[in-house]
Amino acid sequence: MQRIITIERFIIEREHEIPGATGEFSKLLTDIALAAKIVWREVSKAGLVDIIGSTGKVNISGDVVQKLDEFANEIFINVMQKGGHLCVMASEESKGLIEIPEELAKGKYVLVFDPLDGSSNIDVNVSIGSIFGIFRRVTPGGRGTEEDVLQPGRNLVAAGYVVYGSSTILVYTTGNGVHGFTLDPSIGEFLLSHENIRIPKKGDIYSVNEGYYERWDENMKKLVNYLKAEDKATGRPYKLRYVGTLVADFHRTLLYGGIFMYPGDSKNPEGKLRLIYEAAPLAYVVEKAGGRASNGFQNILDIKPTSLHQRTPLFIGSEEDVKLVEKFLQGKA
Ligand code: AHG
Ligand code: MN
Ligand code: MN
Ligand code: MN
Repeated sequence: MQRIITIERFIIEREHEIPGATGEFSKLLTDIALAAKIVWREVSKAGLVDIIGSTGKVNISGDVVQKLDEFANEIFINVMQKGGHLCVMASEESKGLIEIPEELAKGKYVLVFDPLDGSSNIDVNVSIGSIFGIFRRVTPGGRGTEEDVLQPGRNLVAAGYVVYGSSTILVYTTGNGVHGFTLDPSIGEFLLSHENIRIPKKGDIYSVNEGYYERWDENMKKLVNYLKAEDKATGRPYKLRYVGTLVADFHRTLLYGGIFMYPGDSKNPEGKLRLIYEAAPLAYVVEKAGGRASNGFQNILDIKPTSLHQRTPLFIGSEEDVKLVEKFLQGKA
């Protein structure tokens, strides 16, 4: 029987592992767990209250904004804004920087987040999630600026995600192992359930929206046809699993191994996923679990963002599978 330990207790016990961390960092992580619990509370009763459906608005990325997108965004902003640990925040659901009140903007951290991932799945009761990343500020003081947000994923000091699914799990890393906490609704606590998650070096599942096959370039088509071909010696065909919620597809990939892919295509050369709020935080998690994330040519963590909502193709999962993808996409297979 695994030791019963709450995420708050675990964060405090592990605080000494983070260079230069002060109680501030632990409080920041604890606040994120609180925001996740409040989003869970609304997600778990969506359909009973007027929280499903669309707001009729479109966000800066061109996504139709669901009511829960907006609600989750407001929860994260309200919970995180007044803690005094942040100098600036940025969200997939907010066009510009989310400013911290001047008198509170003395924090040395930066929070980037996707408050509600997989929002097209909300109304049909399929798993959805939240994604977050934490940077140290790079500007000297006062309110944070875009420069504090436009950092490569390599600079992250923590990242993680929540899957609101059959059970609700929060997975995060501060660089020393990747740990999962499952919400026990009866006591409202995230309890340690997956200590030190390691992704298998190779998997047998691929995850991509094959509906866009005709838009892919020849190398991408060759790759997926290779994964589907019968060849017992190399463990093929791979199984196909695609939820359509990044955090759900990623969480399965992290635990079972394999590869999640959201490639660029003829209609969207940079794909659909956002570098800052989706790709970089999950790339940080997967690398700390022994996996890899790439845009097909470069490690996701080495890409320096130039704009708040820029997209990137994303290939993420088991190290051997991502390297195989890179070989195909670079025409070397
Ligand atoms: P979000 O709801 O935050 O906008 O993210 C949706 C993303 C991601 O969750 C998922 O992998 C992808 O949309 C699915 O896109 P397709 O429907 O084009 O496959
Ligand atoms: Mn969206
Ligand atoms: Mn998303
Ligand atoms: Mn989202």
